Amino acid sequence: MKIFHNKTDLSTHIHSLKAKEASIGFVPTMGALHKGHLSLVNFGLSDNDFVVVSIFVNPTQFNNPEDLKKYPRTLDRDVELLQTISDSKILVYAPTVEDIYENNVASQSFTFGGLEHEMEGAFRPGHFDGVGTIVKRLLEIVKPDKAYFGQKDFQQLLIVKKMAELYKIPTEIIGCPIFRAADGLAMSSRNERLKSEHREAAPFIYRTLKSAKEKFGTKSAKAVTEWVAKQFKKQELLELEYFLIADTKTLKPVKRKSTKKVYRAFIAVYADDIRLIDNIALN
Ligand code: PAF
Repeated sequence: MKIFHNKTDLSTHIHSLKAKEASIGFVPTMGALHKGHLSLVNFGLSDNDFVVVSIFVNPTQFNNPEDLKKYPRTLDRDVELLQTISDSKILVYAPTVEDIYENNVASQSFTFGGLEHEMEGAFRPGHFDGVGTIVKRLLEIVKPDKAYFGQKDFQQLLIVKKMAELYKIPTEIIGCPIFRAADGLAMSSRNERLKSEHREAAPFIYRTLKSAKEKFGTKSAKAVTEWVAKQFKKQELLELEYFLIADTKTLKPVKRKSTKKVYRAFIAVYADDIRLIDNIALN
């Protein structure tokens, strides 16, 4: 498997593939790969001749320095996992911080039509400036035909789509279904860090989302939101940070239900010091 640690070598190689008319898919990751990432890579391989997987723990998107420090870094294992899919069709880009940021580890400041102020934007100040900065840089380096993002980070997906539109980036941004463990917990690199009792409690998040979806058929968003808050009060090991039902275009919380709008429920929960997010389509 070809592994690149600097952007010049990667660009030269991609350029030579494109000269032979090869199509390039792209899956950006922060490593600690799991089945969710592998499913994105498989989507990429079914649409493209080659898939570039970036593995880079991006410092500018962490608003909590402890979270950045503790984020798992497992490059050798990640490469082994990717090799189980394909050795020749996957290129890994694992840059250093200097290769991406040179001497200035800082975010660009973005506006994404207000999407950046909702949910994760409100609870993690600066997060989407960091995500925007790294994804824009990576798209400029890799210049893929298509890039694949999981719907677990639904707000991130919308923001990346908006950024591609605003900056006229000629890459098709594709959202892929949430990949779940057999017990329903959405796959996340953070799951690895859960203590066993918290891992056992965590599927409650998706179970509650499914019940919220059912209730939303007959009840108001306010009633469903209150019901969810009550369920989490009974949970000792999980602490609800937010639950809300929002319009999937604007991500603004729903005030009055309309049959013309498409809604999703979004949730963020602390399991000890580990923050987990999830979401579900409602209609
Ligand atoms: O979703 C992630 O893992 C990260 O936010 C991304 C898109 C790789 C940017 O660092």
